[in-house]
Amino acid sequence: MSNWADNVETLISQKEIHARIEQLGRTITLDYKDDELVLIGVLKGSFLFMADLCRQIDNKLSCDFFGLSSYGDKTKTSGVIRITSDLKRPIEGKNVLVVEDIVDTGLTMQYLLANLQTRKPKSVKVCTLLEKPSRKLVETQIDYLGFEVPDVFVVGYGLDYKGRYRNLEYIGQLKEESLA
Ligand code: IMP
Ligand code: MG
Repeated sequence: MSNWADNVETLISQKEIHARIEQLGRTITLDYKDDELVLIGVLKGSFLFMADLCRQIDNKLSCDFFGLSSYGDKTKTSGVIRITSDLKRPIEGKNVLVVEDIVDTGLTMQYLLANLQTRKPKSVKVCTLLEKPSRKLVETQIDYLGFEVPDVFVVGYGLDYKGRYRNLEYIGQLKEESLA
């Protein structure tokens, strides 16, 4: 057996993640009722959350993706945010739901929301799987939240460290000695 994930301690199990996403999907479905929505997944970290969440929303919707990068290979944000891939369609007049993996300092979300507002959507809401409230530098809008996590570096279920661990079925804490 390969031991590539031995240095990851489980924080949120696969079962807990899926149960929470079902609840979020039900709430979002009711909130939007007959209003069509556009889900905008923030790449790359949100790709698994987006895939599971969109299937729990029982509304007319479309999916698009926005590529943003601020971390490089470090575990602390550089504060400099780069667009790595833009939306493929206009969102003017649309109900947008941003789907993010984690809000940490809030800088990425602040940048993204300001960028989206210039495109004149009808409404913008934010759904993030995780939030690290202790590290917040700027207040940002969060309308739907999966889980709060402590101030530790988390990986799995889409979240990475140096590009790895995205394929874990659960969310875990990378042990300190692995953060080199
Ligand atoms: P913020 O701009 O500091 O809020 O950081 C947001 C982005 O940093 C997220 O979209 C993640 O991609 C990444 N990030 C923040 N914290 C973690 C973590 O604990 N593990 C993996 N990625 C993280
Ligand atoms: Mg992200």
